[in-house]
Amino acid sequence: MTEKDFFPAFLEKYPASGEATWMAPSNIALVKYWGKKPEQIPTNASLSFTLHACSTTTTVLYEPLAEETGDFSFNLLVDGKPNKDFRPKIQTFFTRIERYLPFLKKYHLRIETSNTFPHSSGIASSASGMAALALCVMEMEKELYPEMNESYFVKKASFLARLGSGSACRSIEGEVMEWGSHPSVEGSSDLYGIPYPYKVHNIFKHYQDTILLVHKGRKHVSSTAGHNLMRNHPFALRRFEQANDNLQRLKGILETGDLQGFVQIVENEALSLHAMMLTSDPYFILMKPNTLGIIERIRAFRKKSGTQLCFTLDAGANVHVLYPENEKEIVFQFIQDELVAFCEKGQYICDQIGVGAKKG
Ligand code: DP6
Repeated sequence: MTEKDFFPAFLEKYPASGEATWMAPSNIALVKYWGKKPEQIPTNASLSFTLHACSTTTTVLYEPLAEETGDFSFNLLVDGKPNKDFRPKIQTFFTRIERYLPFLKKYHLRIETSNTFPHSSGIASSASGMAALALCVMEMEKELYPEMNESYFVKKASFLARLGSGSACRSIEGEVMEWGSHPSVEGSSDLYGIPYPYKVHNIFKHYQDTILLVHKGRKHVSSTAGHNLMRNHPFALRRFEQANDNLQRLKGILETGDLQGFVQIVENEALSLHAMMLTSDPYFILMKPNTLGIIERIRAFRKKSGTQLCFTLDAGANVHVLYPENEKEIVFQFIQDELVAFCEKGQYICDQIGVGAKKG
């Protein structure tokens, strides 16, 4: 499909007032998206686990405007309180998606949103937040075209979510999502995420993700600024190849349930992401001493116990500890005994792989 497939067919009828509610989950990338071209086109393919507990729920109440203002008309409430911080991101999002939803300026939108995870946790809300908002505005379009099929609905929701935040396009469905055109992934596209179309071994069902909150403050580099630093990065091209190779190698690993191979690739991706930040100009050090402390403990424990837990990182200091459900007891005990001490105020979030967004 191309961009043109996401233009609506005709524009004479507009939905009356109404409301739409969607819950969209966060996701954790195994193969990282880091680097993009305009507009929100990734420079390599990425792969993620959809999460279950960390999510955003958004309600959009829409009402036709008596008179159009020439701009988008919306107000935003986060946890029931008016919020200005996210307005610019939403304004940019609406500007980018207007050509695909030309009715947006005809309405006033009241956007009410809340996350299951605290704002100060350092967990980015942009993936789940943009995915939930994209689903709500798709619900408006569906009012116009009730015959719209499910597959188009989710594809366009992912397409729109990508224009809000790249990783958001992987937060519509589950359990394993792929985004970015890749020669060995059938149906893959730079324009939207797709459910990973190949066999995934049962060992990955209910895979656990314990998120250790090492540093809860806001990141000092936005991911958009980080992506932009890949433009003149001396290692960029090799990095994009590496990510695509890692995604290719994961195919067999996911199919056969080869956990050793999984650990090797997932950790390699996390460290390569941070290596890109460490070697960009200007550089960023987002890991904290406690991030490294946790990584060392995980390596040592894996060796000692014969378990297959591993870590991954986002563009921040927090550590996602990934492990199969059958190791839950022993790994969780280890987390309690050795890792919680590295967390800010001892805080962590227990999550696991999930199935995707749900209508409210
Ligand atoms: C490190 O999707 O937040 O989490 O498209 O600029 O909104 P924008 O970036 P964003 O970048 C996510 C980067 C990452 C890796 C990943 O999720 O693949």
